[in-house]
Amino acid sequence: MAKKVQLPPSMEFYKDNTTLKWIILAVSVLISAGSIYYTNILVEQLKERERQQVELFAKALEYTLNSSEGNIVFITDEILFKNKYVPVIWFTKDNGYQSTNIDIKESLSKERKDEILKREAEKMSSTFAPIEIILKDPETGEVYEKQYVYYKNSALLTQLIAFPYIQLSVLAIFGFISYLAFNYSRTAEQNQVWVGLAKETAHQLGTPLSSLMAWIEVLRDDPDIKNKGIVDELDKDIRKLRIVTERFSSIGSIPVLRRENIFQLINNVVGYLQPRVSSKIKFEVYTLSETIDVQVHAPLFEWVVENLCKNAVDAMGSAGTIAIKILRGSDHKVFIDISDTGKGIPKPIITNVFKPGFTTKKRGWGLGLALAKRIIEMYHEGKIFVKSSDETQGTTFRIELKSA
Ligand SMILES: Nc1ncnc2c1ncn2[C@@H]1O[C@H](COP(=O)(O)OP(=O)(O)OP(=O)(O)O)[C@@H](O)[C@H]1O
Ligand SMILES: [Mg+2]
Repeated sequence: MAKKVQLPPSMEFYKDNTTLKWIILAVSVLISAGSIYYTNILVEQLKERERQQVELFAKALEYTLNSSEGNIVFITDEILFKNKYVPVIWFTKDNGYQSTNIDIKESLSKERKDEILKREAEKMSSTFAPIEIILKDPETGEVYEKQYVYYKNSALLTQLIAFPYIQLSVLAIFGFISYLAFNYSRTAEQNQVWVGLAKETAHQLGTPLSSLMAWIEVLRDDPDIKNKGIVDELDKDIRKLRIVTERFSSIGSIPVLRRENIFQLINNVVGYLQPRVSSKIKFEVYTLSETIDVQVHAPLFEWVVENLCKNAVDAMGSAGTIAIKILRGSDHKVFIDISDTGKGIPKPIITNVFKPGFTTKKRGWGLGLALAKRIIEMYHEGKIFVKSSDETQGTTFRIELKSA
């Protein structure tokens, strides 16, 4: 049985966001369906009216053809010429095919015109059954011929049928473009905020850092402190602070990529993290070759690996194994798979983990993976994604980079 995932408060936003999307989608579908339904009612009414008009037309035609008196023809002509919209074709023995409201070149020969009208009449009869006209001998009343009046929807009706679809398509295109434009400007704004904040932080850290470095040199010379190992510890912390500053300053500008040994970089991170986590957490690094080079910005790339490893540690609690595999793919690709033996990511939230601000942790900011994605995709033109995740097997993240 599927377990119900309990969402912490910080995740409710994502749930609400998707609910809103569904509501907007449902309302749009409802409006579209309503608009099409209403136009259909109008179309049916207009169709009925046109049908009545053609029937009257056919009756007048029948009357004219059967009549021998000129003055009655004058009255029926009124009806015949009143039809200015519905295209009609009929056939008479004496004059061949006749038509009204059909575009046909006057300059064509009579044979050619008949041919075109005949074809059109056949087409018309496949949508609307033609109306029969019975010709009788005026004296004996004997039926001597049956003729047919063919017709189709007027141009107005045809346009009305297409109208809601055209209108909705135009609206949909407009909506889509506005959505893209809105999304683009929002992303641009977010980028400005993060880049500005990162640069400013790096800048502010710079000054105290330089003075700390100077103080270390002073302490190194002090005979009382010199041999107590304090200076070395301080030095390590300051080095870490410098790395952090460099990361912030690099993410705030366009970093220059260099050819680096990937195995070396990963070992640097593992070497830094190993002593800082529980001894029951094991790191394993596998590679087929220790000389695979990639084009990366080392401080930023190390930051990504560090974030992924920290997440892995969080997912495993007190004990487990983090396996990092460096693989070579086709088309000069290098894959870095980082697997843990942790609790896995529930299926419904996998799509959210890279969104900034998304976290399931009490003390998380939800920035680690968003940052990793930005670094890999924007600065390295690579890819990063959840390759697999399972409650029993743990999670594997994959980074895809181009080899140097
Ligand atoms: N290896 C993993 N196993 C299980 N869940 C993970 C793993 N990595 C990430 N997640 C999930 O993705 C969420 C987002 O991760 P992300 O690193 O972006 O933020 P965070 O770790 O919560 O906070 P921060 O990294 O900013 O301190 C985590 O809260 C967690 O729910
Ligand atoms: Mg994290």
